[in-house]
Amino acid sequence: MDEAKGLQQFRTPGEMRMAVRAWQAAGLRVGLVPTMGALHAGHLSLVERIAEVVDRVIVSIFVNPTQFGPDEDFAAYPRPIARDLAALADQPADAVYLPDAATMYPEDFSTSVQVGTLGKILEGKFRPGHFEGVATVVTKLLGASRADVAIFGEKDYQQLVVIRRLVRDLDLGTEILAAPIVREPDGLALSSRNAYLDAQARAVAPALYRTLCALKKAAQSGGELRALEREGVRRLREAGFEAVDYCTFRDPETLQEISRLDRPARLLAVARLAGTRLLDNLEVVPIGGG
Ligand code: PAF
Repeated sequence: MDEAKGLQQFRTPGEMRMAVRAWQAAGLRVGLVPTMGALHAGHLSLVERIAEVVDRVIVSIFVNPTQFGPDEDFAAYPRPIARDLAALADQPADAVYLPDAATMYPEDFSTSVQVGTLGKILEGKFRPGHFEGVATVVTKLLGASRADVAIFGEKDYQQLVVIRRLVRDLDLGTEILAAPIVREPDGLALSSRNAYLDAQARAVAPALYRTLCALKKAAQSGGELRALEREGVRRLREAGFEAVDYCTFRDPETLQEISRLDRPARLLAVARLAGTRLLDNLEVVPIGGG
């Protein structure tokens, strides 16, 4: 176990578990912030938020190969580890968990966590196997840490729903907190992948949030949801997005399509810009209800 600037570093599940056991034996509650690094203000908001409800905070940094498809950006994914550690030194974080790939997935690793329909729709349709990779690594992180609480951002809304379901289905006992999306001043949701956008794409990108806000308002004024989804796709294409993978009003827990805004819903969209898929979503509560 190394230590730098007061931030403990764990490299193996055993090291982390020993520290967590000692904290919990002393009556302290432990929180986990799972990340893939390339930390931005959105991640730091997760650290701040969980620190309000636990006594010790661990941030895990692991670029998980099993949640990337063969044609995706696993190799290119940013890994600024020194910058990440420096950013955490100013945060209410007590430790980082930095396993390597061989520790997470030894050669004879053979278990995976399937999440059924929830993992096959929306993102699951465009990224086959993605949620199996996420569910497996999150199960490992929760198991290795035995954290009392873990926190995930609403930016990856489907991921949050999948994790809540797996924690419930597998009786993992970890409390799952959700944190709101952190945005740039122009509305673009923070994401490590925003670094892939050139100046031209960056100028188009905030149209995703603007479009979702317009659809939300129209839905709350009684607009027909399927027509609004088509309108959303049209607006995004007109703004300069190359393709729209989906733009859809869904039930916030089952992620099934809804036909009327008669209860709170989630509007989720993914649009492609300069080869990058940008995700965003909004809660849509019926006006005067929900
Ligand atoms: O959201 C992420 O950064 C990742 O999907 C997670 C939850 C850390 C699992 O690798």
